[in-house]
Amino acid sequence: MNKLWSGRFAKNTAEELELFSESISFDKRLYLFDIRGSIAHAEMLNSIGILTDEEKVMTVKYLNKIEDEINSGNFDFNIKFEDIHMAIESRLIHLIGDTGKKLHTARSRNDQVSLDTRLMSLFEIDQIILLLKQLRYTFVNIAKDNLKTIMPGYTHMQRAQVISLAHHMMAYYSMFRRDYLRLLELKNRILDEMPLGSGALAGSTINIDRQMVSDKLGFRNVSSNSLDSVSDRDYVIEFNSDCALIMVHLSRLSEELILWNTKEFSFINIADDYATGSSMMPQKKNPDIPELVRGKSARVIGNLVQSLTLIKGTPLAYNRDFQEDKQSLFDSVDTTKSSLSIICALLENITFNKENMLKATQSGFLNATEAMEYFIKKGLPNREAHHLIGKAVAYCIDKNKQLEELSIQEWEEVSDKTKTLIGSEINDILCIENCLNARNSYGGPSPDSMQVAIDKAIKELKQL
Ligand code: ARG
Repeated sequence: MNKLWSGRFAKNTAEELELFSESISFDKRLYLFDIRGSIAHAEMLNSIGILTDEEKVMTVKYLNKIEDEINSGNFDFNIKFEDIHMAIESRLIHLIGDTGKKLHTARSRNDQVSLDTRLMSLFEIDQIILLLKQLRYTFVNIAKDNLKTIMPGYTHMQRAQVISLAHHMMAYYSMFRRDYLRLLELKNRILDEMPLGSGALAGSTINIDRQMVSDKLGFRNVSSNSLDSVSDRDYVIEFNSDCALIMVHLSRLSEELILWNTKEFSFINIADDYATGSSMMPQKKNPDIPELVRGKSARVIGNLVQSLTLIKGTPLAYNRDFQEDKQSLFDSVDTTKSSLSIICALLENITFNKENMLKATQSGFLNATEAMEYFIKKGLPNREAHHLIGKAVAYCIDKNKQLEELSIQEWEEVSDKTKTLIGSEINDILCIENCLNARNSYGGPSPDSMQVAIDKAIKELKQL
């Protein structure tokens, strides 16, 4: 089989080189976008007189036919074609002869592959945005039902202050909302630079209409420098980075689910059909889904590092190294999509052990900040109030008591400073339920604050 570029070669390509350099085994995934780009290009070539009306109709018709062939599994992805671009063009020439030989006018695979990868990225970004939307809804739904489900909030993995499950879930909502916004920005940047017409590196002497191709493919602008255009892989790196960050967020959530599922925490139960067993230990029920998501995040982070490293030493313009940008990007996209989807399903198949969550707030002095703020509101400077409650906590540890159990006399034993300040309302204020309700600052965990956050989230999601 003669290569489309074989003119200046006296010998056929060595088989070992063909095997080593082919990309069709993985870039065949780009076929839809390659064909879409080729149709827009053919229409443009017709508008400038390179293709007659008849030739254009024929080209478009047979490009669509090739798409059907691929869809129905009747296409030869032979590695001798090297890549998907040459496989489709060769097939077109095979089907319509000389007319097919005109399609590559004023085009190189260098600008073609950049267009295809951009179109694929736009498509996949939309898929991921949809999955993110579904996941964000899942957090909102759990939050809606758990405005008053009390649990400990942690810093340094030590029980710190009282929060609600709604607050915890809405924290993840915020993280995945930012992931959505990042993808939206990336989408806008990709749409801003339509690369086709950049040629191999320096455009063309033919009077091509790049704006027309750009309009047909839904881009906002054509790229403004052909050299940059064929060597730019920023969008690949950004997409890898956005996926890596989503995976890092999923990995943090996974870590928490794994912890919450331990006997030690016992905050959640995972439904049997979303957990797995052990081949040796009959009693085991393991949280493999979050463990795998946590594990897979490593690979997606690796893909980001790979793409950064791939580009860092490459001079302008196109280098064959760039072919290595695809497998890692495809892998990041697929891993992120499947992880988002399965974590969503897992969350819907978890029950929360509300009693255990509440119990975990009842020791560990989670209301110490409330006690401190009580005395601040009574006029004590923050640092003095902090010291006072520190002493009260030490007193409680010594007497094996909780802060809310101290009598007025005991408070006075801790410090005579409390004498003029303390009232009998203190015990009410320190009761855990009241601690949650009182944390009413914007963004805080009180049911009122969280209701505001949930209403805002639902409004945002409905606009998507
Ligand atoms: N398969 C190549 C890639 O993915 C397409 C571009 C090849 N260009 C070239 N001049 N060999 O980057």
